[in-house]
Amino acid sequence: MSTADTTAGEILSCLPDRCDVVTLDSLTGDHSHTTKVDTIEQVSEIARLLKTGYLHAQAEHYSVELHKVRSVTPREVSESSMTSKAPLLVEWTTHEEVPVRVQPAPKLVRFAADKTYWLVGLTGGLGLSICRWMVDRGAKYIVMTSRNSKIEPSWLDEVEALGATVHVFTNDITDRTAVQNAYQTICATMPPIAGVAQGAMVLQDMMFADMDLDAVERVMNPKVNGSIYLDEIFHDSPLDFFIFFSSVAAISGNKGQSIYGAANTSMHALAAQRRQRGFAG
Ligand SMILES: NC(=O)c1ccc[n+]([C@@H]2O[C@H](COP(=O)([O-])OP(=O)(O)OC[C@H]3O[C@@H](n4cnc5c(N)ncnc54)[C@H](OP(=O)(O)O)[C@@H]3O)[C@@H](O)[C@H]2O)c1
Repeated sequence: MSTADTTAGEILSCLPDRCDVVTLDSLTGDHSHTTKVDTIEQVSEIARLLKTGYLHAQAEHYSVELHKVRSVTPREVSESSMTSKAPLLVEWTTHEEVPVRVQPAPKLVRFAADKTYWLVGLTGGLGLSICRWMVDRGAKYIVMTSRNSKIEPSWLDEVEALGATVHVFTNDITDRTAVQNAYQTICATMPPIAGVAQGAMVLQDMMFADMDLDAVERVMNPKVNGSIYLDEIFHDSPLDFFIFFSSVAAISGNKGQSIYGAANTSMHALAAQRRQRGFAG
């Protein structure tokens, strides 16, 4: 018997009966197996769990004195603010139409007038319309960065006439030092940063088999490396938002966009990691 077998034997002898033991044979075997539930202790453990669950469910029952319950129509529900904690009975049998007040989400969004918002790579048409939308909702300080922005001075004048300060910096998000420098400049010259939107993108649609490394990196770098550099800076900053601009193509796939899809999904993962740490993403 080898030392490994002896050690395995010793470990096995210490394991409780209910442990599944997986060996190379069971992993490569041609039969499936199920966990056995056949010892008396296991069966009584299941019975105990069921009983506890049943008792919990019973304990959560509460009785209602029906004669004290007011009955209301769906219209009354929709028209009142319904803050009362008293039980109500909704008469769903009525066929009348009920008005519902729907507030579009953008109406509820407000941006702080004393904070800075950093729009990365969002100097194209989408970025300009987002910037304008933010200013209309209270944002006063916005920084827009990209490698070679072609924002018209007349557009900037128009937005600044609404009372906003919009700074456009030349910055390559794939250059870690340059990104850190841009961050330092913003911190030194503007109010604290409260939100970041990362939309830098290079598209180069082509079939995967035709791509060379340069093409892959051109598409990947702004989204993958750029997002990582930003996340490094804002790793544990309590931002109001950190938005990564992805695409439905990352989920559905799109012909010629496998690398674009992959780059976007890496941002999904980064956003998930940020959320797991308890920060905006
Ligand atoms: N528009 C859509 O319908 C749509 C749909 C789905 C997803 N999206 C997402 O939304 C985002 C913005 O899309 P868009 O339509 O506004 O694209 P766009 O007009 O092509 O803008 C992308 C911007 O990224 C900047 N950029 C590229 N590489 C950069 C780098 N290394 N550093 C800094 N900036 C860089 C470019 O500016 P410079 O050349 O000046 O660097 C460019 O203006 C993208 O992330 C995209 O994936 C857009």
